[in-house]
Amino acid sequence: MSSVLGTYARKNISFSKGKGCYLYDLKGEKYLDFVSGIAVNALGHCHEHLVKIIQEQSQKLWHVSNAFVIPDQEKLAKRLTDYTFADFVCFQNSGSESTEASIKIARKYFHEIGQPNKKRIITFKGAFHGRTIAALFAANNPKHVEGFGPKVDGFDQVSFADHEALKKAITNETAAIMVETIQGEGGIKEIPDYCLKGLRELCDDKNLLLILDEVQCGIGRTGDFFAFEKSGIVPDIVPIAKGIGGGFPLGACLLTKKVSVGMKPGSHGSTFGGNPLAMAVGNGVLDIILQNGFLDNVKKISKYFDEELINLKEKYPKIILEVRGRGLIKGLKLSVDNLKFIETLMKYKMLVVKAEEQVIRLFPALIVSKKEIDEAINKLKKTFEEISKQ
Ligand SMILES: Cc1ncc(COP(=O)(O)O)c(C=O)c1O
Repeated sequence: MSSVLGTYARKNISFSKGKGCYLYDLKGEKYLDFVSGIAVNALGHCHEHLVKIIQEQSQKLWHVSNAFVIPDQEKLAKRLTDYTFADFVCFQNSGSESTEASIKIARKYFHEIGQPNKKRIITFKGAFHGRTIAALFAANNPKHVEGFGPKVDGFDQVSFADHEALKKAITNETAAIMVETIQGEGGIKEIPDYCLKGLRELCDDKNLLLILDEVQCGIGRTGDFFAFEKSGIVPDIVPIAKGIGGGFPLGACLLTKKVSVGMKPGSHGSTFGGNPLAMAVGNGVLDIILQNGFLDNVKKISKYFDEELINLKEKYPKIILEVRGRGLIKGLKLSVDNLKFIETLMKYKMLVVKAEEQVIRLFPALIVSKKEIDEAINKLKKTFEEISKQ
């Protein structure tokens, strides 16, 4: 019996090493990894640049308290603010902490500007913002919250894409709308650009802040640094994590100067968030992702991936009901049990991850090659073939 608390329905497989888009199990069998630690290993496994950085940094300095200035933290924050909408960055260790920090920042902003009644956050059904107690009740997924009450108050939830319900839910106590630009765990559901624009207008009109959770879909996943960029809107607060650490636990909250006013020494903090080791890795990830042409290449390869997935859908229209997502955050909505599909695909040595609505999520590393996409399509095809005969 395992001594690890049984909070995961794990597959009975373990890996001993990884390189690029591949993982090797304990027997040395090679698997094509389209899970990437659930959109975490942005540069694949053991990327040379990150290996070098972590080796060098581990011999210099791992951790100092945030009581001191951390030069690499300043550097990463500067790069993130130079490259994005944000004026400030606040470093965390995970996605959940980053969404929680976003909620705190939004509430504190209204408190600071003399509107302390504005505390409530509107969220959407099917959302996932993390497993800490407030993030849990923010998303309010019945499967996740059961038994963890009392309910954390302060969140008002509406159905995804229900514009009328959203407008009705706004009261003079509403501080912000918090939404994933692309719902990940919910089944790779994208907010169309016109809706993002509508959300921004609504927020401006009603004096609300817009928090776009890009923990899963950000950091180059869509071929843009942020998934919302294509819409042309500017959010107020954006929590990130996953890809920015490339596999090292790292999260952050990006925000504008306007909403930063309430956050002063003592307002928020973290023992580990932004420590030198994490910051070295985060800077290393940006060294690659912000290289000229890197994101263009993500766009190019994902166009090819998308075309191949659409071809697959045409070949197996009874099993693939929908191709969802953008860039290298893709989902296939299946008519068959997604868990059974994942098991079958594993026989062909490929790994993908489930989402709600019988979706399988495909998260190749951002460095995936055309050859690896072809290999993936081939393995998917074999699995669809096998399943269609059952
Ligand atoms: C959109 C989104 N927000 C927040 C989180 C929570 O991140 P973490 O598991 O790092 O706490 C996740 C994790 O999957 C996520 O997808």
